Amino acid sequence: MGFFEVENVCISYAGTEVIHNISFSLGKGETLGIAGESGCGKSTLAKAILGILPSSAKISGSIKYCGIELAGMPEKSFCTLRGKEISMVFQDPSAALNPVRKIRNQFYDILGAGISRRKPADDEIIRLLNLVRLPFPETLLDKYPSQLSGGMKQRVVIAMAVCKSPRLLIADEPTSALDAEVRLQIIDELIALKERLGFGMIYISHNLAELSKVADSIMVMKSGNVVEYSKTAELFALPRHQYTKELISAAE
Ligand SMILES: Nc1ncnc2c1ncn2[C@@H]1O[C@H](COP(=O)(O)OP(=O)(O)OP(=O)(O)O)[C@@H](O)[C@H]1O
Ligand SMILES: [Mg+2]
Repeated sequence: MGFFEVENVCISYAGTEVIHNISFSLGKGETLGIAGESGCGKSTLAKAILGILPSSAKISGSIKYCGIELAGMPEKSFCTLRGKEISMVFQDPSAALNPVRKIRNQFYDILGAGISRRKPADDEIIRLLNLVRLPFPETLLDKYPSQLSGGMKQRVVIAMAVCKSPRLLIADEPTSALDAEVRLQIIDELIALKERLGFGMIYISHNLAELSKVADSIMVMKSGNVVEYSKTAELFALPRHQYTKELISAAE
């Protein structure tokens, strides 16, 4: 039984197919990079894996996590996996955080920390904020998201995404809302965190240079199809598809 296996997945919105027969697999602790132009279906695939597609979407094929079939899994079962086994970091950290709730309380919500567990929960939150290398984490607990910079917010979101020790983390363009310098820091943070916690990762980005830093293998998508899927070094050494060549030259 593999760690994560996607086979012949098709997804349509209101009868229009946007993902056409996609297959890939991921070993435990490995990172798959997904590249492709805007609208090619990257987030749709990520949402399908996390079981958060809108009700207008229909999915066929198979998405297996440790042998468990996720495609078509009822929400009641899915919510026992989401956040815990499979977690996600979204593109825009501001949208992922509740603007009117302090950072501390947003962690409590995820950790399910009742009043009696608050002291150990605070220690745990500080440990997590340290892990994503936020300076003086104890001073952040009583802050609101608007009081943090974009890079700090994304670090908080990453800490939240890993707080239940998921085994698979999906990062959907986690750096695209950030400026270039912070972008590199966040990538390094994710790499360090992955080495420490050992989760597998699906990392989505327009930018092949970014993917080359994190991914063991890369899947290039175009209009809902996979045009190329190979080990990272091989993809750069011997790109087969014209579109991949264009992405590589754009990344240089
Ligand atoms: N809720 C929805 N209802 C109908 N169509 C949708 C919905 N969400 C996405 N789509 C369509 O599905 C296709 C894939 O969109 P998706 O958001 O997955 O692309 P993407 O590769 O993540 O793009 P980007 O790089 O801009 O984030 C697009 O044609 C989009 O218009
Ligand atoms: Mg997207």
